[in-house]
Amino acid sequence: MSHSHTFAVTVTAITQVTPLIKHFVLKAADGAQMPSFSGGSHVVVVMKGATRVYRNPYSLLSSPNDLSAYEIAVRRADQSRGGSVFMHDHVTVGMTLQIAHPVNLFQLDKLALKHVLFAGGVGITAIAAQLEDLKMGAVPYELHYSVRAPDHAAFADRLLARHGDRVRIYHDSAEHRIDIEGLVAAQPLGTHVYVCGPTPMIGRVLASARAAGWAESHIHWEQFSAPPVGDPFDVFLKKSNVKVSVLPDQSLLEAIEDAGVDAPYLCRGGVCGECKCRVLEVDGVLVHNDHYLSPEEKASGTLIMPCVSRAHGKNLVLDL
Ligand code: FES
Repeated sequence: MSHSHTFAVTVTAITQVTPLIKHFVLKAADGAQMPSFSGGSHVVVVMKGATRVYRNPYSLLSSPNDLSAYEIAVRRADQSRGGSVFMHDHVTVGMTLQIAHPVNLFQLDKLALKHVLFAGGVGITAIAAQLEDLKMGAVPYELHYSVRAPDHAAFADRLLARHGDRVRIYHDSAEHRIDIEGLVAAQPLGTHVYVCGPTPMIGRVLASARAAGWAESHIHWEQFSAPPVGDPFDVFLKKSNVKVSVLPDQSLLEAIEDAGVDAPYLCRGGVCGECKCRVLEVDGVLVHNDHYLSPEEKASGTLIMPCVSRAHGKNLVLDL
């Protein structure tokens, strides 16, 4: 996947669903059906700001059985690089955006005897479409959805209407906390677990399942990192013979793309490995922010994931 594989969509509806989350409905600009996808997929949305282009991944939360439109939801992150703020403040109904074709890095396992899903906050967006796939099948499933307060429970009414008592909602503010350890321990053999949410929640689910002796193949999680801001630095792309300056609020991958070089990616969140790139020279240190490279690979200084990682120093040369 690269930024050249995108198609035009029109924003047909925008709704504020919680104090921080907006919901967007996107239809193909040419009126055609949207490309098919499965629950757990995401798309990359390309946003052309006044001075720069943002490319952010967002989960598809609409039903994979309805290809008349896609739905995404965006949590406003004021302290980040600006993509979510752009979606909140500048995207309006009727606007055209470019999006990449869906990619699924968070698939349901077809052999599971039961599915138990955990979502925290905006993590529900990665799970909502999986629930729609599960509703069409015969395998039992249940969702445990944790939010900080009732007014932050995005899509709660819709989830309860669609899935009834298969959905449990927990509110931190009411001391109504989710018993992850107890829930995981109580699952029958053959269950697969899925989690998307804040880092501590993912950690608790993984630790609980491992402590209960679950096989790694039965444990599924999605945690895209947003590229952090950092110092500006320059990079030379040797194969392309292009010098690129990376701005503080720009990812290395975005800077490479803006220079017209077609770099590979899938998740843009440091988990899939698709953007892995060889470092030929570095005068300074690599700042690794991904979940993909091993500690040894990071320490070697020879590899970098440009979607989330950057450099701190004078000079970086990549095999790109
Ligand atoms: S695009 Fe997936 S790790 Fe960079």
